[in-house]
Amino acid sequence: MDSVRAVSPGRVNLIGEHTDYNGGMVMPAALSVHLEAELTPREDDIVRISAEPFGMLHERTLEDPAKDHWSDPAVGALREARALGLIGHGADLLIASTIPAGAGLSSSAALIVTVLKAARMLAKSDMSDTEIAVAARRVETDYIGVPVGIMDQMAVAIAQPGEAIALDTATLDYELVTLPKGYSIEVIHSGVTRQLSDGRYKERKEECDAARIAFGRDDICTLNPAKIAENTEVSDVIRRRALHCATEHRRVKAAVDALAGGDIATLGALMIASHTSMRDDFEMSVPLIDALVDDAVALGAVGARLTGGGFGGCIVACVAEDQRDGWLEGLLVKHPEARFIDRIARAT
Ligand code: GLA
Repeated sequence: MDSVRAVSPGRVNLIGEHTDYNGGMVMPAALSVHLEAELTPREDDIVRISAEPFGMLHERTLEDPAKDHWSDPAVGALREARALGLIGHGADLLIASTIPAGAGLSSSAALIVTVLKAARMLAKSDMSDTEIAVAARRVETDYIGVPVGIMDQMAVAIAQPGEAIALDTATLDYELVTLPKGYSIEVIHSGVTRQLSDGRYKERKEECDAARIAFGRDDICTLNPAKIAENTEVSDVIRRRALHCATEHRRVKAAVDALAGGDIATLGALMIASHTSMRDDFEMSVPLIDALVDDAVALGAVGARLTGGGFGGCIVACVAEDQRDGWLEGLLVKHPEARFIDRIARAT
């Protein structure tokens, strides 16, 4: 049978962390690192995955439960494609990716979205990219069992490399956002790897669920931060988790305005404030990443912050293009454990 190919970018989140399952805004951007999949349908329920980053061939069946294995997103995506009527049986998948795994750059969402887009092509279906993203999230939450929000799937399904989207995760309305002129967005890996399935992401999700119950509403991002701060009935931990969500949501909105007005100093200040909130209120950073962010700013970035689910992975920094080479060299000399991953800049 004929093969189909699809490709999706990795994503970096510029601002808006852990707001996407609390009714808030996010602003991710698509990277140039990407994942490509070639799908060849089969007549049986076998899934054969050959994945370059892992240098191996792996065989599963569509009936296999998730088993905390790198092939889970691919198997889950094919199960979802079958449930949606896009494919009848299993498939051979050839995967090639330049998105580092465990870096918080959505390698898993890219794999699921890419397989679903390939299946959509095969079926000549008119499913929209938003519908693909929603289906991809189901694979993460229902099959793999990680209670993620919708940011990553929307970002990799919709944005083109170098494009950012301001996404309202409550409605899935989004607008494309232009990156700042004369500045680049730098993605640096801290050297600390992590997996969303390691339990700490889920712990934060559960704390947010407790905050929803305590404050009596689902969209804790839209609560007034002053009202959260003065509430003495909830525990200190739950109050700080809610405070992060509510202030982060406002920072994303302010960042969208700052970008629209070309106010890069404000954008940078918002990124730095976002990191402080993630470090102190949401407690999702680690000391090595705090040091990397501090040094990124000390060396001249207008803003820098941890990006993604937390507890490891990458930082994202906004740096003036004419300072970028010296900035990067200085940062990597100070942090030999870190490594450059990608940069995106406005095309014109
Ligand atoms: C991971 C999840 C997203 C989002 C971020 C934190 O990337 O997949 O849904 O919650 O963490 O902002």
